[in-house]
Amino acid sequence: MNKTLNKSISETVARLDDTTAVYELARLSEEIATHDKAYYQNDAPIVSDAEYDRLRQLYTAIENRFPQHILGDNPNKRIGAEPVSGFGKIKHSVPMLSLENAFSSEDVENFLNRIRRFLGLIHENNMEIVAEPKIDGVSISLRYENRHLSCAATRGDGIVGENVSLNVATISNVPARLPERAPAVVEVRGEVYIGHQDFAKLNEARTANNLPNFANPRNAAAGSLRQLDASITAERNLKCFAYASGTLSDPVADTHWDWLQRLTEWGFSVNTRSALCTSAKEMLQVYEDINSARSNLPYDIDGVVYKVNRHDWQERLGTVSRAPRWAIAHKFPAEQATTILRKITIQVGRTGALTPVANLQPITVGGVVVSRATLHNQQEIERKDIREGDTVLIQRAGDVIPQIVHVVEGTRGEDSKPYRFPNFCPCDLKTTVVRKDGEAIARCSGDFLCPSQQIERIRHFVSRNAFDIEGIGEKQVRTFFELGLIKNPVDIFDLEAKETEPSHKIKEMEGWGEKSVSNLFAAIRMRRRISLDRFIYSLGIRQIGQATAQLLARKYTSLDVWHEEMVVAAAERTSNPNEDKNPSLVGEAFSNLCGIDQIGISVADDLVAFFSKKENLTILQGLQNRITIEPLANITTESSIAGKIIVFTGTLNTMTRQEAKNRAETLGAKVSGTVSNNTDYVIVGANAGSKAKKAVELGLKTLTEEQWNELSDTV
Ligand code: IVH
Repeated sequence: MNKTLNKSISETVARLDDTTAVYELARLSEEIATHDKAYYQNDAPIVSDAEYDRLRQLYTAIENRFPQHILGDNPNKRIGAEPVSGFGKIKHSVPMLSLENAFSSEDVENFLNRIRRFLGLIHENNMEIVAEPKIDGVSISLRYENRHLSCAATRGDGIVGENVSLNVATISNVPARLPERAPAVVEVRGEVYIGHQDFAKLNEARTANNLPNFANPRNAAAGSLRQLDASITAERNLKCFAYASGTLSDPVADTHWDWLQRLTEWGFSVNTRSALCTSAKEMLQVYEDINSARSNLPYDIDGVVYKVNRHDWQERLGTVSRAPRWAIAHKFPAEQATTILRKITIQVGRTGALTPVANLQPITVGGVVVSRATLHNQQEIERKDIREGDTVLIQRAGDVIPQIVHVVEGTRGEDSKPYRFPNFCPCDLKTTVVRKDGEAIARCSGDFLCPSQQIERIRHFVSRNAFDIEGIGEKQVRTFFELGLIKNPVDIFDLEAKETEPSHKIKEMEGWGEKSVSNLFAAIRMRRRISLDRFIYSLGIRQIGQATAQLLARKYTSLDVWHEEMVVAAAERTSNPNEDKNPSLVGEAFSNLCGIDQIGISVADDLVAFFSKKENLTILQGLQNRITIEPLANITTESSIAGKIIVFTGTLNTMTRQEAKNRAETLGAKVSGTVSNNTDYVIVGANAGSKAKKAVELGLKTLTEEQWNELSDTV
């Protein structure tokens, strides 16, 4: 990657040696994967876009300095995250790619030079580039067969997405039909987004219904698009900008600019700020113009995308790992504003983690009103010396929760005092705060006694990606908890039966009536059947997010088996609490658990800690007695090449090695340089040597160049 490296990144990378580089690559890869999941699967990113970009830059800088330690599965090869369950799966006929980022004009110049070099156009000065606003929404692939919208899919992991056809059919500026002159198969790619006004209205309605607000328009668009009930999507007024193509049964245009004109003629909305440029100067001018217009646009954008205009050149340029070589996203700096930090409050999470939150004087940043910002932890407050009453610079870069960049100097009053992190949990019990050695997070020690933790656990249990019980939001959980109607998740399933008891009349409570209570009970009844992965996720065990819950569900297949194995693993761990390196020395069940890809000792320890508490076992038993937990259905993908390991050897006649590699990777295959037992196909070109011989010795499947072309053309 050709980036102007930020100084602190270069310094960090310079300090690494071989061992620490290996460690850092693995750590960053894992961290980026976690953020990818939070962003793509849960629509709930944990860090700001700026922080995410920094992690990726750091990762790539380490890779560049230590190419010998590049990981097989790494963030530069992945796109997004696997799709979540709930919708049908669709394999994209052409993968949905991501974009490389540029952060400076130098990066843009480098991009142009790279292209010129690749195409052998060293002296070409008039290469045409289209510059378009980069819409901050959710990418979508729209497939038209015989000029009818036949299916719409989200990006998912770039290879397989979710079928959201019914939802997309409700978007007013996505044409349902194409004109007669359009080819028989047309795939249009674009961005689904929600405008600022609709976003504000949506959040107002959610507040009125005691539902948590969406943090930003992008999350709102993603959440609205993935509603299982399309009538809810229809109410959200989603919009779409079209900007790219997937499969086309007949060519439509020779250039990207003409393709955009066709899209407009066919009834799509194409962003009118898109411009055709012939020099870096013009491109950077468009960037400046769009950046200046940004705060007045009625929707979020986070940069400008530059694309090589000629389609034949795009084809020759192909893709490199996860992104096309012919396009780049020039990101805008984060939007910032200053405001007053009124108060710092402490939020208690379901695992007892205490997170300080800045309550701000509300201010509009990039079209969105911001009144709270995360302060992460005590160290962060101390490092930035953030105090109540300070004037602070905040930034929002498509972020979930805005961040405080720094305190504005010279604005602090004389009576200002450093913030003191409380020693007691803000819950009614005032339990002590504990912080494990080496951990940044302070936690309330109250566990099952701390009402705040209990409320958060129930809130998590009923939340969208868990039991998804409509009608029980933050406010209801709190009220029901305080009235003693729901003390833990099991009580939810007894609410209806207890409604007949004189002390339990929800319908007589303020804000409730006959109809809303019967809706609530119907919603609860609907959730008496749940898939094992959702069930595991809903328990709110530390470090067990949706993806890990799915891994566990796939491994253990039924609740009974999982439960039994975890209890055994917990007992094994109790007798062997100090073995931190080799899980097999702890016991068979514990070792099996750690044997699951992506589950290490730390996650396993959190799981067994959950199963070591009798309160949790009672809750599990209570739930098992009341609801049906279904094993996880298998997810299959149909591609014959995706995931396969391919080796090219010898000279190819019809394309360069680089082009062949690009094509294989575009189809989801992994291209390796060495032949081993794990290799699926060896493509043998002219004058092949030892690799071809080894392939025969190992009995591997070998293909001629012609056979490979045939195979890769038909998938
Ligand atoms: S082109 C093969 N054009 O940005 C290239 N993408 O960070 C496909 N995006 O996944 C993308 N506005 O969801 C393109 N005008 C635009 C875009 C755009 C927003 C999104 C898209 C892509 C992501 C990459």
